[in-house]
Amino acid sequence: CFRKGFEIECINNSPVLAGTSIHVVHLSGDPAESLVMLPVGWQCYNTSSPDKVEASSHGETEMNKHGVYRLSNTHNMLVILGCNTMGNIGSVRTTRDVDEYSYYMGCMTFCNYSATAQDGLCASVGCCHVDIPPGLTHNYFYFRVYDHTGMMDFSPCDYAFLVDRTNYTFRRSDLLRDTNRTSPVWLDWAIRGDDDSTSLSCAEAAKATTTEYACVSNHSDCVNATNGPGYNCRCSKGYQGNAYLVNGCSNIDECADPAKYPCKGVCRDTEGSYQCTCGPGYGSDDPKTQRCTPKFPLAAQICIGVQ
Ligand SMILES: *[C@@H]1O[C@H](CO)[C@@H](O)[C@H](O)[C@H]1NC(C)=O
Ligand SMILES: *[C@@H]1O[C@H](CO)[C@@H](O)[C@H](O)[C@H]1NC(C)=O
Ligand SMILES: *[C@@H]1O[C@H](CO)[C@@H](O)[C@H](O)[C@H]1NC(C)=O
Ligand SMILES: *[C@@H]1O[C@H](CO)[C@@H](O)[C@H](O)[C@H]1NC(C)=O
Ligand SMILES: *[C@@H]1O[C@H](CO)[C@@H](O)[C@H](O)[C@H]1NC(C)=O
Ligand SMILES: *[C@@H]1O[C@H](CO)[C@@H](O)[C@H](O)[C@H]1NC(C)=O
Repeated sequence: CFRKGFEIECINNSPVLAGTSIHVVHLSGDPAESLVMLPVGWQCYNTSSPDKVEASSHGETEMNKHGVYRLSNTHNMLVILGCNTMGNIGSVRTTRDVDEYSYYMGCMTFCNYSATAQDGLCASVGCCHVDIPPGLTHNYFYFRVYDHTGMMDFSPCDYAFLVDRTNYTFRRSDLLRDTNRTSPVWLDWAIRGDDDSTSLSCAEAAKATTTEYACVSNHSDCVNATNGPGYNCRCSKGYQGNAYLVNGCSNIDECADPAKYPCKGVCRDTEGSYQCTCGPGYGSDDPKTQRCTPKFPLAAQICIGVQ
């Protein structure tokens, strides 16, 4: 089952966002994020006329038809590859005729000859990278055109892509022609309307009676989305599971996981919490972190030599 905008289908035993060929690598409910493989944007120059672009792609996809996703600004960066290029990402579809997308940001990279771009270094020579702001809804790349005369051997194409910040290391060979690339990109998802005006915050969702409130599990809480409008659901403290399903959140047996929920005394699980106490005759200032020791009266301690 799925809520509008979240459908995932299996193609050749591989999960993809419905209606696209975008592979889903990871999906989690709390934090509400998924990792998908998105196509890169590129433009390649004409070998016989290196001042002209012969083919290009904006890397556009239909991944966000219902607006539930935002490109994660905390997990992704924008990378531009090329010798003498300026690449940008445009996002947030507008209704204006001139610009289909608003919000443009990007960076510029140079390299005089092939050896100036160094493996492992994305520092504006052959490769540059910038942070992106929150709120982006689409990946749509766009380049300026610069004469590539003298560069066609080592940099025949320009590339632009979003990528997991921890998952890209520049290689000089990445400047070569290979337009069939995808990169791992993190998406933040939330319960939202098709556009910002129909998205609800927690306070509004709790009041609304006509819309389907998503936090249906007992022992779940609503939290405002952090990237874009809308809200997410999470199991209350002491519960775990899927807050978007009836009975999705179940009690955590803290005593079964002493590494996460320490107890040096006697552990007893309760609904939504746990108790950690010392057995009869034993005491501790904090049985969760300090051992329980025998509680002898002072006289008895002196008598048997306990200090
Ligand atoms: C490349 O440029 C040449 C000369 O200007 C032109 O004849 C040819 O059609 C161009 N090729 C492409 C794929 O644009
Ligand atoms: C660029 O490289 C060429 C050799 O390929 C060199 O002659 C020229 O001085 C370089 N220009 C700059 C600005 O570094
Ligand atoms: C980068 O992402 C790919 C595709 O998801 C994955 O296979 C690889 O392990 C990741 N590498 C790192 C260093 O995270
Ligand atoms: C692009 O890459 C995919 C997966 O690596 C492959 O299945 C497909 O055949 C490639 N397409 C072209 C045109 O090279
Ligand atoms: C959630 O967002 C609404 C509207 O922006 C705001 O009024 C409310 O205080 C927020 N709630 C929390 C818990 O931040
Ligand atoms: C949810 O909690 C309420 C109040 O504690 C209870 O009346 C109801 O039966 C519970 N629902 C389910 C599905 O457990």
